[in-house]
Amino acid sequence: MGQDLLGFYPQWYVPNFGSGYVVAAIASTHVLFSHISVGASFLLAYLLYKAYKGNHEEIYAYVKRYFLVLLLTSYIVGSLTGPGIWFSTTVSNPRGISALIHNFVWAWAAEWVWFVTEVALVYIIYYIFDKIDRRTLMHISWVFAVVSWGTLLLIVGILSFMMSPGSEKWFHTGNIMDSFYNPNYFPQVAVRTSFTVALAALMGLAIATRMRESKLRQELVREVSLIGIGGLLLAGMSMIWYLETLPDRAKTTLDFAIPEAFKNTIFISIILVALVFAFFYALPKANRSLAFLALLMVVVLGLTIFPQERIREWLRKPYIAGDYLYVNQIVARDVPAKGVKSEIPFIDEHGFLKVHPFVPASAKTVTPGNMLEAGRAMAMISCAHCHSLDPAGPRPLVQKLEQVSTRPDVIYQFIERRLSGDPHQGAAPYMPQIAGTDEEIRALAAYLADITKQYVESKRATEQAAR
Ligand code: HEC
Repeated sequence: MGQDLLGFYPQWYVPNFGSGYVVAAIASTHVLFSHISVGASFLLAYLLYKAYKGNHEEIYAYVKRYFLVLLLTSYIVGSLTGPGIWFSTTVSNPRGISALIHNFVWAWAAEWVWFVTEVALVYIIYYIFDKIDRRTLMHISWVFAVVSWGTLLLIVGILSFMMSPGSEKWFHTGNIMDSFYNPNYFPQVAVRTSFTVALAALMGLAIATRMRESKLRQELVREVSLIGIGGLLLAGMSMIWYLETLPDRAKTTLDFAIPEAFKNTIFISIILVALVFAFFYALPKANRSLAFLALLMVVVLGLTIFPQERIREWLRKPYIAGDYLYVNQIVARDVPAKGVKSEIPFIDEHGFLKVHPFVPASAKTVTPGNMLEAGRAMAMISCAHCHSLDPAGPRPLVQKLEQVSTRPDVIYQFIERRLSGDPHQGAAPYMPQIAGTDEEIRALAAYLADITKQYVESKRATEQAAR
């Protein structure tokens, strides 16, 4: 019996919320602050260059204050949420993290070194700001900017591999270079970098508009507005490039499964921010109190990070990483170079409940007496990574199945078709192939029918009570 178990982990299920949303909340916060810090590092280096060239004392005071704010916000929140991503993803998707570590351990080690250097530099720069000569200060700040960007360059290799290795090569070589520089890598670097530029320009605008009226102020306002428009244009263009490099299944998901409103929020906010830049470019003398407008736009642009990251995760489905590991932790195809084999045939033969070490003994074998318990266990290990089993949370199954049926046989047919893994049979491109014995899938259908029926009935009861 012992050797028939597969290496699955206990499942972290957050009722009515979903472990995925816990990760998303931590990760989006992290992305926001880390993008701000990359953009800010370049902005500050540029301002120090400007101050040095033109001997502008007033800029130094601003930049120093800016460093302090950055240190107290971005670096504190960023450094807390970074490990937060590690903790939460390790519990929510242990095999996903394991797959990434087995491929990218050195990339991550390198990223850590760059990150530590970056954090050390932000403290050092603030501390020595008035103590060293200004030329050296300027040079150090450029080193700081490049190191900040370096962390982005490294982490994007891993993120884009999660979307797809992009070709068959890596499966046979297992070489980190064949997965790191995948077709999705450069466009994603371009999207993120241009976003950081736009964010930095907005913050620059907030600083410049607060300076007292002078030729320098107007010059700065116009310059950062232009840089901002450039950043947004680049972001838009590289987003189109990015979409081009997606795997076909992701393109289908983008066109058919992701709500228009979600995509539109991104474009609308980009246009809004572009208009603000254009306004300041045209009217560089605009009132000082408009600084708040620029800051407001930082928030607007910052908030698009959430839909952007969410869409990226959506497009990656059914995989968590590398086109071979499903979000629900099942290895879906062979990776010869890594000695990894698809687990689906094994699970189909032996039963998912049987080979999963953390399914309770009472649910291991499907019997007429434990149909619902076994079915719930199946739903937990097959669907719950992406679908809430409660009425709230991510894509609640009861809400989805309400449209399908409350009958076990119809739900069974739905699963056999939509989760068949075969597009010709009508499989959804975003859902994994169902794995398990026929009995287990019937138990799953029985459980899903049961909870959907309860949901529909309680909805009807509240509607009647309201009338
Ligand atoms: C890898 C993530 C993932 C897993 C695992 C998954 N689904 Fe889905 N499912 C999706 C996505 C994405 C959609 C598209 C709709 C959305 O995003 O709201 C979807 C949609 C659905 C729908 C709506 C109809 C349709 O075909 O689009 C049903 C019903 C459904 N899933 C049932 C299930 C069941 C039952 C399981 C478990 C056996 C399951 N799903 C496992 C991601 C997943």
